[in-house]
Amino acid sequence: MTEESNNDAFHANTEPAKTQGNTKYIAQAGSEPGKMGETNPDILHATSNGAEPTTVDETPPASVHANPKHKKTEASNQPTSYVTSEPPMGDSKQDIFHGWLATDATSPLKHQSFTPKTWEETDVDIKVTHCGVCASDLHTMRSGWGETLYPVCCGHEIVGIAIRVGSHARPGIKIGDRVGVGPQGYNCHKPDCSCCMGGRENYCPNRIGTYGERYPSGAGISYGGFADSTRHNSNSVFNIPSGLDSSSAAVMLCAGATVYEPLKEHGAAAPGKRVGVIGLGGLGHLSVLFAKTMGCQHVVAVSRSEAKRSDALALGADAYIATADEKGWGEKHASSLDLIICTVSDPRMPLKEYLGLLRPKGTFCQVGIPEGPLPQLDTMALVLNGTSVCFSDSASPGNVREMLGLAAEKGVRAWTETRPMGEIGEVVGEMEKGRARFRFVMVNEGNDERMKQ
Ligand SMILES: NC(=O)c1ccc[n+]([C@@H]2O[C@H](COP(=O)([O-])OP(=O)(O)OC[C@H]3O[C@@H](n4cnc5c(N)ncnc54)[C@H](OP(=O)(O)O)[C@@H]3O)[C@@H](O)[C@H]2O)c1
Ligand SMILES: [Zn+2]
Ligand SMILES: [Zn+2]
Repeated sequence: MTEESNNDAFHANTEPAKTQGNTKYIAQAGSEPGKMGETNPDILHATSNGAEPTTVDETPPASVHANPKHKKTEASNQPTSYVTSEPPMGDSKQDIFHGWLATDATSPLKHQSFTPKTWEETDVDIKVTHCGVCASDLHTMRSGWGETLYPVCCGHEIVGIAIRVGSHARPGIKIGDRVGVGPQGYNCHKPDCSCCMGGRENYCPNRIGTYGERYPSGAGISYGGFADSTRHNSNSVFNIPSGLDSSSAAVMLCAGATVYEPLKEHGAAAPGKRVGVIGLGGLGHLSVLFAKTMGCQHVVAVSRSEAKRSDALALGADAYIATADEKGWGEKHASSLDLIICTVSDPRMPLKEYLGLLRPKGTFCQVGIPEGPLPQLDTMALVLNGTSVCFSDSASPGNVREMLGLAAEKGVRAWTETRPMGEIGEVVGEMEKGRARFRFVMVNEGNDERMKQ
């Protein structure tokens, strides 16, 4: 059951959906008349057809790397821009969103208008209420994995309300539904794509990331969730089950999914399996939570210092290793684990010692993505131990749905700290300093009010 079906308060304020052309629209739910239509009409009409990124700088008060005293602007919490009392005419000329964009690797984030990808009838527009801050956003903002396509609006742990649903969208998404998007904004679903046809959409060679990628079809560029609204292919849009709070759901759509799939695939719940989780951040804390929820008998949290011990145990970890504080940890805990999920992305990580924690035939799954090469592998040691080293990218839609369902059923809650969307610049600085416990979630407070979540 979706949130939409049991949220009477929300619907009491919602005008009936209107249909125009092939696309369903909804007037802004519960909005105050005076707050409608604040989008600058000049900007709207100056916009191109969406093939190229069109952005208009509106305010630059947030910083990517520094931690400036940022005065929250009203614009940062504006309700969705283009959904005015007069619905758009199905003409992409009118589509303008607003968000916090990185324009290069070092400048402060800027609050700007931008043109989303060209509307297609398979798309869904989402009014963003929540968006988690993933370390991948930081890698991307600073071009850590290679030159980013700027300007980029990051954020791929998105939850919000479906406000426009294409006539050929995946069945099951209705206007007003609480929905979300993870790191993948598009998978091809072509009959000759073995990944899409085989339930491995997360490895589709034609996939498009939720932000910072150009659609080969010429539909423009993908923009993420540090924005008022976001547009993605309906196959990448998930209904959020009722009973799962929006912050948790947002964080699960990337961090949770990325660890859920390898935990499942490598049998974390098998009897007697001992699972290690290295790096207790966004991905790491959800690894502990999901491993225990899935029924893993023994979970060991591996962190650098003692600082996160009590949190790790509260999350459900059965044991804790502090690599910087515990002398001789590598030898002491050698050959004690069957599966490791490693979320660390620092290329200087003690990989040899991490691998030494595995029993014979154990599996080391690297999900953290360093900005440089991993340390050299000791092939002989790995051969003698029969170790499998593997990597994993997010999760298939099937596994995402399964994870969300499990989380709702078992009452799993991510550990999050919500902050107003306008503070994204500060939050990025705090995250770089390792202050997340365990995930910051940016909230569009104006949009969120109606969700009562
Ligand atoms: N494969 C995928 O599909 C996928 C999806 C999402 C994210 N990612 C990547 O996964 C990585 C982690 O993301 P995240 O959002 O979980 O980041 P995060 O919240 O910053 O957590 C990373 C954790 O790594 C540990 N760490 C940091 N520096 C370290 C160092 N020098 N040595 C050892 N450990 C260190 C810290 O844990 P302790 O304080 O406990 O030591 C930190 O909390 C990023 O590279 C991200 O891009 C990959
Ligand atoms: Zn992510
Ligand atoms: Zn495909």
